[in-house]
Amino acid sequence: MSEEPEYESTFGASLLEHDDAAPQNPSDNPTMGEQIGARFSRRGLLKGALAVSAISATVGTAALATASLAKAEGVAASAFAFTEVEAGVDADHHVAEGYDADVLLRWGDPLFPDAPEFDPERQTPEAQARQFGYNNDYVGYTPLPGAADPSSHGLLFVNHEYTNPHLMFPGVVTMKDGKPVLANATKERAAIEMMAHGATVAEIRKTGGKWALVRDSKYNRRITVATQMQLSGPVAGSERVRTIADPGGTKVFGTINNCAGGLTPWGTFVTGEENFHGYFSGTLPEGHREAANYKRLALPSPPYAWGRFEDRFDIGKEPNEANRFGWIVEVDPLDPNSVPKKRTALGRFKHEGAESIVSRDGRVVFYLGDDERFDYVYKFVTAGRFDPQNRAANMDLMDSGTLHVAKFSGDGALEWLPLSFGEGPLTPANGFESQADVLIETRRAGDLLGATKMDRPEDIQPNGVTGRVYVMLTNNKSRKDEQVDAANPRAKNAFGHIIEIVEDGGDFAAPKGRWEVLLKCGDPSVAAVGASFSTETSKNGWFGMPDNCAVDSAGRLWVSTDGNGPEETGRTDGLWAVDTQGEARRTSKLFYRVPHGAELCGPCFSPDDQTAFVAVQHPGDDGPDWPAFGRRSYYEDLSTRWPDFKPDMPVRPSVVAITKKGGGKIGV
Ligand code: FEO
Ligand code: CA
Ligand code: CA
Repeated sequence: MSEEPEYESTFGASLLEHDDAAPQNPSDNPTMGEQIGARFSRRGLLKGALAVSAISATVGTAALATASLAKAEGVAASAFAFTEVEAGVDADHHVAEGYDADVLLRWGDPLFPDAPEFDPERQTPEAQARQFGYNNDYVGYTPLPGAADPSSHGLLFVNHEYTNPHLMFPGVVTMKDGKPVLANATKERAAIEMMAHGATVAEIRKTGGKWALVRDSKYNRRITVATQMQLSGPVAGSERVRTIADPGGTKVFGTINNCAGGLTPWGTFVTGEENFHGYFSGTLPEGHREAANYKRLALPSPPYAWGRFEDRFDIGKEPNEANRFGWIVEVDPLDPNSVPKKRTALGRFKHEGAESIVSRDGRVVFYLGDDERFDYVYKFVTAGRFDPQNRAANMDLMDSGTLHVAKFSGDGALEWLPLSFGEGPLTPANGFESQADVLIETRRAGDLLGATKMDRPEDIQPNGVTGRVYVMLTNNKSRKDEQVDAANPRAKNAFGHIIEIVEDGGDFAAPKGRWEVLLKCGDPSVAAVGASFSTETSKNGWFGMPDNCAVDSAGRLWVSTDGNGPEETGRTDGLWAVDTQGEARRTSKLFYRVPHGAELCGPCFSPDDQTAFVAVQHPGDDGPDWPAFGRRSYYEDLSTRWPDFKPDMPVRPSVVAITKKGGGKIGV
C-alpha cells in the first residue's frame, strides 16, 4: 500500500454503494431478447391471475375487503391523500405539508446511560461501540411485549451498512492537483469504523406525539464487527468456513455491509450482508480452491484497509474468512445477550434484504435480492411451519428449507428453481459435494440453473393485503441492447424498474407464478427514457433508482430511492407513494425528500400506520464524481450539515420519524 492511497481505493466505500461491483456474472443464461415479440398484454393476464388468487393466511379480513373493493370498482382515485412535496435539491429534508419529520437517532447518539456524548473531533472505538452507528439502512419496528399501545412503544432495529471516512473524520482529506486524497487509515480509525458498522436495537416510546429513545432500556444493544455470532444451518462446520481462530467453523465475529433486512413473523430481525467483498484484501495462496468462488463475488476489492490491521480480513493469511460473510443474519431483539445467527440456508451472495410472509400452509417465505448488475432474485421457503402460539418453536425455522432462484420468462411465467444439492446440475460433476457447497457458491448454482440476469435486485416486499410481491430493480447501465429481455426491458437502464409478482394460486410458497413490470422509472416527459408512470403523476412524482420499499397495513406501496441527484434526475432521493390498484395504478407522489448527497433507506410503518420511520443515509456525500461538478464533500467542506447545521458538527446519518400533525394515519 502506498503512502497516499489512490483516489479510487480510498473513496471506494462510496463507490461500493453507488455502482456496486463490476458485473461478475459470467454465465450465458438467456436474456430472452428473442422472446420479446411473443410478449403480449401482460397486464390482462395478471388481472386474471389476481381475480382468482387466494390471499395469504396472514391477511386481515378488513384489509382484504378494502383491497377487493378497490379492484372490483376500478377505483379511479389514488389510495393516497397528501399534498405532494416539490422535488428538488437543497441542504435540508422536506416532508409533505401537515406532517412532521423529526430526527430520532443520529450517528453518535449515546444509546446507554453510561455512553459518552458524541464528540466528532475525539471519537474512539470504545465510544462508538456505545453509540448509534453510521449509515443507517434497514429500519424495522416491533412492539414491546405487553406495550399498552403497540404503536407507541417498541423496539427499533436499525443496521449500519458502511462508513464514509471522508465525512466522518476531521483532517483526513487534502486536495492534491484538484483531487481529494484521503490520508492512510490508522488502526484507530479502522477500529472506529468497525464499531460504526453492524446494527442497533433501541427501545423507543412515543409520548405527546413525539418519539424518543429510552436510553436506560435493558433491550438497547449495539452489534458491531466484534460481536460474536454463530454460523447456523447447512454450512455450519463446513471445512470451507473453518479458520485458524475457529477450527470448528461455527463461531464468527461481526457482520458487515448490512443493507436491507426484514422482520420475521416470530418477531426477530434479519439483516443482509451485501457488499462484503470490499472489506477483504490480499491474495489467495496459489491454486486455492476458493479462487473461482471469490472471483464471482469480485472479492477482494478493498476500499477498506482492515486487512492491514486484522489478519482475518487478508485472504492471503486467512483464506476462508470471506466464506463466513455474505449471509442473512438473524437477531432476537428481545434478548440483548442472544448470539446473532448467520442463517446459511438462505444462501451466500450480496444480500439486499429478507422480507418474509407466512404462506397458506404455515411455511414462511423469504424474498431475497442479490444486488449486483446481472445477478438474481431468490426465494427461501422454510421446511417447518410457523407456530404463532410458540415463539421458541420458530427460532430455528430458517435453518431448514429450500432456496430457489427466479427465472422470468417472456410470456409472463415465473419459475422458482430449487437450489438443492444432487438435483439437476448441482452435483459433484460441477464441483458441489454437499448442500453447503451449493450455498457457499449460490451464484454459481444459479448460473447453472439458468436463472434470469436482473438489473440489480434490491428490496423485495410481499404484500399480505393484495397477495402480490414487489421487486425493486435499481438500475443497470451495463445492459446492452442485445441483453434486453422482458423482465429487464431497457438497455443502459439508468433509472431502474419495479416488477410485480403474483404467485400461483396466491400461495407465496408456490413453485411458479406470474409477473409483469409495474413501473419503468425515470422522467416520463422524456420519451427516450421510456418511463411508465401514469399520466396523473406530476413532475414531482416520478423517480429513478428504486431501492427499498414497504407496504403499510392497508397494502399501499411506498418506495424509497438511492441515486437521484442534481445531474441524474434533478431531485434528491426520497419516499414516494405508488398506487398499485385500480385506474390510479402507476401513479406516484413525492411524500418526503432527503438532504443533498443522501439516499433514503428504511421505510417502515408502525402497526397503526401513524408513524413512518425512514433512514437518511450518507447525507452530504456527493458521490464518487466530486469534485468534478464543483461539489464539496468532506468533513471540513460539506454541501450540507444536516441534521444539526452546526459548524462544529459533521453530517450525521439519522433515522427520522414522520408523523401527522395532530395524529392520524400517514397519507390518508
Ligand atoms: Fe446497499 Fe443494495 O443497497
Ligand atoms: Ca439498499
Ligand atoms: Ca442502497
